[in-house]
This record gives sequence, C-alpha cells and structure tokens, in this order.
Amino acid sequence: MKMLIMGAPGCGKGTQSEILAKTLNIPTISTGAMLREAIAKGTEVGKEAAMYINDGKLVPDNTIINVVLDRVAQDDCKNGYILDGFPRTLAQAEAMEKAGIKTDVVLMIDVDKDVIIKRLAGRRVCSKCPATYHITDNPSKSGDKCDVCGAPLITRDDDNPETIKHRLEIYAESTAPVIDYYGDKVVKVKSVGTVEETTKSILKALGI
Ligand code: AP5
Ligand code: MG
Repeated sequence: MKMLIMGAPGCGKGTQSEILAKTLNIPTISTGAMLREAIAKGTEVGKEAAMYINDGKLVPDNTIINVVLDRVAQDDCKNGYILDGFPRTLAQAEAMEKAGIKTDVVLMIDVDKDVIIKRLAGRRVCSKCPATYHITDNPSKSGDKCDVCGAPLITRDDDNPETIKHRLEIYAESTAPVIDYYGDKVVKVKSVGTVEETTKSILKALGI
C-alpha cells in the first residue's frame, strides 16, 4: 500500500498515520517530522528549513523533493509506505510522478476549522519520539511526560496563533489544489469524533 495522507494542519495526519502504519506494517514518512529532526541535528537541510517552518511557510520544493526521494528509495519502503505531509504543492506531486513513485490511494482527512484550531492549540509532542498528545482530547497518562518513552512533552514552535494562521492560509492556497490532482484516488474521511472513532472511519473507507 502506497498511501498519501493529506489534510489541513492539525487535522490528525500524524496521529492517524502512526496508527495505520502499525496496522498495515509499513513505515510512515512525515516530511514535517524529518525536517524538525534535521533542524535539531543542525544539518544543511535543517538550517534552510528552519527559516521557513518557523514562519509557517513551505520549505522550497527542490529541498523537500530530494529528502523524500532519498527516503522512499530505502529498503523498508519496498512493500509500501504512508507519506504524511507530502506532496504539498503541484510541483511536488509532479516531481513524484516523474520519479516513478506510485500512489495507490490518497486519504484526505477533513476537519472543520474551529476543530483544527482547538487541536493545534492543545497539542503536545514528545521531545524524543514521534508520540503526539492533546491536553484534553488525547492526554498523556503521565502528565507532562511521554507514555511511550518517558521524555518531557513540549509544544511545537510552529503551534503559536500567528504561525497557525499562516499555515492554514498556505494550505488553502498551495496544498488544497493538490487533492484535485489525484482525482478518483482520493478517499475523503470526515474526522468528527475521537482518535479511535476517526481510525474506524478511515479503515472502513479504505476497505481494511
Ligand atoms: P507538518 O509537521 O506536516 O505540519 P502540518 O501539516 O501543519 O500538520 P501537523 O503536523 O500540524 O498536524 P497533523 O495533521 O499531523 O495533526 P496531528 O496528528 O499532530 O509540517 C510542518 C512544516 O514543515 C510545514 O508548515 C512546512 O513548513 C514544512 N513542510 C512539511 N512538509 C512539507 C512539504 N511537503 N513541502 C514543504 N514544506 C513542508 O494532530 C493534531 C492534534 O490533534 C494533536 O494534539 C492530536 O492529539 C489531536 N487529535 C488528532 N486527532 C484527533 C481526534 N480525532 N480527536 C481529538 N484530537 C485529535
Ligand atoms: Mg503532523
């Protein structure tokens, strides 16, 4: 299964792709997470990405395309993968197709704007592993520590009201049109309930 997960910032792409990756036994590749890791390590890509991410802007196409092409060429992707947050522009979608990277299905998680703001405002992430929480809707059992690895929970630098506003504008301008590009490969799921309820709706819509 070669799946793309798309949807507005905070719709639940990361949360659902981690769950689906375990169910389907394939890796999840989050471009946002890869860029944050590159920033933390201080690599060249990280230094460039920081200038864009902290303003809520997209990282230049060429930079992110090369990162993704290298990643999907790795051995663990040969039976499939879930791409979370890529492609985000038509140029990225076209580059992917040109490189022969196939897509079986595009899962689009649809969430109302007021719910998105609530989800992003209350998000906490682990400072060490990919685990993601929400202060009221999906809290850590250990308070301000990660249930998976015990590391402290933090707020993402781009989860502040001004950057969130900018990310939502960029999504509407540059990323929403990419969904039309995939035509009948798109499976749209409305996320109205809990994480578990949304997973159920997704599995049903995908016929899994
Ligand atoms: P990225 O990290 O991908 O950010 P994003 O698209 O803005 O999406 P988020 O990660 O914020 O949200 P999500 O949909 O994963 O939601 P989550 O599961 O965490 O990208 C960051 C930046 O990197 C971009 O702005 C850009 O600069 C750069 N970048 C990345 N990819 C790029 C690309 N291809 N090209 C160029 N630049 C790129 O859930 C959110 C919260 O809601 C959590 O607290 C969660 O616990 C909670 N939650 C989830 N589901 C539910 C539910 N059903 N009920 C209640 N709470 C829920
Ligand atoms: Mg995410």
